[in-house]
Amino acid sequence: MKTFTHVKDLGDLNAALREALEVKKNRFACKASGANKTVALVFFNSSLRTRLSSQKAAMNLGMNSMVLDVNQGAWRLETERGVVMDGDKTEHLLEAIPVMGAYCDIIGVRSFARFENKADDYGEKILNQFIQYSGRPVFSMESATVHPLQAFADLITIEEFKTKPRPKVVLTWAPHPKALPQAVPNSFADFMNEACVDFVITHPEGYELDPQFVRGAKVEYDQKKAFEGADFIYAKNWSAFRDDVYGQVLSKDMHWTVDAGKMSLTDSAFFMHCLPVRRNMIVTDDVIESPKSIVIPEAANREIACQVVLKRMLESLQ
Ligand code: CP
Repeated sequence: MKTFTHVKDLGDLNAALREALEVKKNRFACKASGANKTVALVFFNSSLRTRLSSQKAAMNLGMNSMVLDVNQGAWRLETERGVVMDGDKTEHLLEAIPVMGAYCDIIGVRSFARFENKADDYGEKILNQFIQYSGRPVFSMESATVHPLQAFADLITIEEFKTKPRPKVVLTWAPHPKALPQAVPNSFADFMNEACVDFVITHPEGYELDPQFVRGAKVEYDQKKAFEGADFIYAKNWSAFRDDVYGQVLSKDMHWTVDAGKMSLTDSAFFMHCLPVRRNMIVTDDVIESPKSIVIPEAANREIACQVVLKRMLESLQ
């Protein structure tokens, strides 16, 4: 595996799931495979889960990991080509990337959408420069438009908790005070559309996601109707995707918060969220603290998802 940005990079998804469950049974089985190999984890944005789970996955494989917080302690990086660098940016990404590549074998990149230019965000301008210029396998640790490690962990979690061969999985928009990227819902849709699930997306009008990720999924604008008979409720906020309102918050309607009343419409559904979560905006305290909340095992599976990706990237180095 040379890149990991979308579900298709995993190839046969059932085989990837089986591999993940095998890794989970004995996460130290391939401890020798990463000896003398190094992963660089490059963060342009904050993280708790991705940072720790990626480092832990690397350790499980016997790898070294180096973490670079670009905005804390590194030179300020210019990302635009052709700029006269007479301002506060000291180094250009076009030198920084191959230098990082010189010190490691695999690179993970976190670089959120900036909401300045939709074409730049959806062109994955930062991530694609790492893919193009590092000379190393590169994986997204949540980039402008995708968060595939999260979606892979979500799928592993659904596989572990499902009680039916084909569960109903509902992705629901929920309110948030700030404009958030579409990366998590995009990748969740990307994975769910390839998984053995009945997938439904519900959101207020105006929050339609990119059709390349929605594909054949059912979109239901009535949240309560969408929840009926659901086996998994996956809550997430995202900002608008449409060109004329890209990156904007169109609604903070608290009627979309996931609460116990709505969960009672489901088939005793599990509650999922990628975390961090704004309590009593996205989901009420009682729902996230209930026995049906699986947000912690979901976060724990981030380690497994990353370990599968690193294992496959190590195999591609041989
Ligand atoms: N879910 C997730 O990616 O969490 P972090 O932002 O803390 O890494």
